[in-house]
Amino acid sequence: MKTKHFKFNPIMLALAISVTVIGCNDDDDSTNPDPQPPSNGETTNYRAQAEQMVAQLSVSEKLDIVTGPGMNNPEGAVNLLQDVPGVAGYINGVVNDDVNIPATKLSDGPAGLRIEPTRDGDENTYYATAWPIGSVLASSWNKELVEQVGEGQGNEALEYGVDVILAPGMNIQRNPLNGRNFEYYSEDPVLSGRMSAAMVEGMQSQGVGATIKHFVANASETDRYYVDDIVEPRALREIYLRGFQISADEAEPMAIMTSYNLVNGTYVNQREDALIDIVRNEWGFDGMVMSDWFAGNIMQINDAVPVDPDSALKQQIAGNNLIQPGNNKESLQQAYDAGELTDEVLDRNVVEILTQVQKMPTYRGYDYSNQPDLDAHATLARQAAAEGTILLKNNDAALPITSGSSLATFGVNQVNFYKGGTGSGDVNAAYTVNLIEGLEQTYQINSALTEYYENYFVENRVEVGNLLGTNYECEDAPVTDNPELQVLVSQAAQDNTAAIVTFGRQAGEGGDRSPEQGDYRLSTQELDMLTQVAEAFHAQDKKVIVVLNVNGIIDTSDWADLADAILLPYMGGQEAGNAVADVVSGAVNPSGKLAQTIPKAYSDVPSSETFSGLDTNDDGVIDETHMNEGIYVGYRYYTSFDVDVAYPFGYGLSYTTFDYGQPTIVENTLSSGSDGAISFTATITNSGTVAGKEAAQLYVSAPEVKLMKPTIELKDFAKTDELAPGASQSLSFNVPASVLASFDPENNQWIVESGTYSVYVAPSSDITDVAPITFSVASEIVVSDTTPGAFALPEGVDAASFVTVAEQ
Ligand code: BGC
Repeated sequence: MKTKHFKFNPIMLALAISVTVIGCNDDDDSTNPDPQPPSNGETTNYRAQAEQMVAQLSVSEKLDIVTGPGMNNPEGAVNLLQDVPGVAGYINGVVNDDVNIPATKLSDGPAGLRIEPTRDGDENTYYATAWPIGSVLASSWNKELVEQVGEGQGNEALEYGVDVILAPGMNIQRNPLNGRNFEYYSEDPVLSGRMSAAMVEGMQSQGVGATIKHFVANASETDRYYVDDIVEPRALREIYLRGFQISADEAEPMAIMTSYNLVNGTYVNQREDALIDIVRNEWGFDGMVMSDWFAGNIMQINDAVPVDPDSALKQQIAGNNLIQPGNNKESLQQAYDAGELTDEVLDRNVVEILTQVQKMPTYRGYDYSNQPDLDAHATLARQAAAEGTILLKNNDAALPITSGSSLATFGVNQVNFYKGGTGSGDVNAAYTVNLIEGLEQTYQINSALTEYYENYFVENRVEVGNLLGTNYECEDAPVTDNPELQVLVSQAAQDNTAAIVTFGRQAGEGGDRSPEQGDYRLSTQELDMLTQVAEAFHAQDKKVIVVLNVNGIIDTSDWADLADAILLPYMGGQEAGNAVADVVSGAVNPSGKLAQTIPKAYSDVPSSETFSGLDTNDDGVIDETHMNEGIYVGYRYYTSFDVDVAYPFGYGLSYTTFDYGQPTIVENTLSSGSDGAISFTATITNSGTVAGKEAAQLYVSAPEVKLMKPTIELKDFAKTDELAPGASQSLSFNVPASVLASFDPENNQWIVESGTYSVYVAPSSDITDVAPITFSVASEIVVSDTTPGAFALPEGVDAASFVTVAEQ
């Protein structure tokens, strides 16, 4: 990464003198411009200085700090030295006789930095890299790779003058129809938590802040400002909070963003048990907590729901330090005057924010270049997109296809290839490589077909509105009753080596998907196209490859039999088409594996009957989601309740094969209590004929004493380097007691129960043919005590209506 240039800033020097702090030595005087990004270890000193600063602020200045200037309001931002058009929000600064704190800038998001690419009267451009979406990154199961992507994105933020990135998104993919699943990593909390930690570490290595979001249980978009998730405390702990805890512990993100939804009757950003008891006291989180934009019913969004005039006050009391985008000063001033917002609460929130502000590039006087290395980042984006691509099916080695062959490409998505989803997770990238542009680097492409689809797209596309703009969608052309396309199909089956059929699905923030045809299931036209193409090509003994350029998973049961090979690249960012071509040609041997299960049918999804929720008071607003599957989310459900799936969690094919050696226990210190762990090693050998990487997963099947448990749970994973044919690598796995533990809601404790544990080191969650090794725990280990009553179910909710409870 580039060398950083911090310029000398007299304001900072003045501040350094005015807030000389006890216990702050020369080495970590944060007010001196420092070429190195600050390390989290210095937080204590920043905190001491923040406490000094707060003593020098008026109430009005403190209120400026805890609530931003409002949406799209750089003019209103206090002490904004230099704006970056397109940022999502600001933390106000302060100037008085004693302190001079510049405003700092917060910018989305999960698939790349979201800023305006052009500026009035300025011929320079400010494009950012569109990285592969979160679901792709997680499917790589490669933490080092994700960390590198984080470094790249962090560097773009730094060089474009942004202080805090509003990412990574890391909600659990509870249901495949959540419109924002693309921003998230997985249905599993350990995978989500580790991926998030890698991303945060990469971003923050560049000296900017990262924000883990959306905390917590934000699992749907429909009426997202009002939906109340009714969730058992055990499911919250084991599924929804666990990933955030792992990420907060491992990577110390600068910020946590609270989510829009309520949990068990109260907005998350107004829950002291969540933000103080759990996040600060139990986890020891040292960063700042900010709201999601307009969250907590703070302003009128839907006429059916009256605004809560005390929302800002409640957020402040609960420990939601920073209200975004803000503009709530007046209501907070009134609350202060009425004695409802105390100095203690206000000062606490200001200290949390200023502790972080001191680490930010703007405060530190970083002289940004506006010239991140976009070429290097594009190369990395392509590599990451290819590594996260999943090969679901590959009968008779349909893939790879020899370079130089001629290909027939079907489906309008080939020319309308999606780089990512819509909303705040979208990125203003300089370009997107579509499938055709990618394939034509390596193959001869049937140009008559491409031309057909280009014209068809232009004639039939519709511009649809999304939360922050518009995008094109276009229904596919049926082949039946379409003489022109029929001729092209039969000609192509004669002339070309293979058919590539692509299906696309766009989705994003502010809406959920539908389980119907045309969305979760293929439309009639799409099915018709695939059927006709498969018939024509199979009649010539030629292969049909399906490419899924989708925001989230779609049904495969209706049509998988028609395809010889299925590739799931999701949305690979700006280099998407090149990355697919790399896998199709075998330049990259696929090593992606599913971070979410593909069920046989949507109705098999354990939350299919409760998603996205209910309108309980008939006001036209979905206001409640009963998460009655409890801890049985994703593979935890399918494996425990013997439900057959189309493709299991963790699954993905390669062009080579791997042998798994018997795992062995390296060290077992579990009996030492909360700091204990058990570690394993297993040797993976490339038993095939092509070089490749393998993501190995460690699942545990735990004994049931007090608590029912899923049949298996992922506890760690590791990926080999690229192994040459015949080469082996020994992988290490470590399972800390905290990750092994289950949550005992009766006693408010994380416990490791006594008994025999089976450990499977496996290529996927289908462990049918995997021999376990076992270890035993002699007596129950209490890993930690937690806050009694935290996130308790609302009164009147029948605990027995949750599967987890009902199973006990
Ligand atoms: C989204 C956040 C985003 C924020 C700022 C909200 O609508 O939920 O994820 O960071 O806007 O753009």
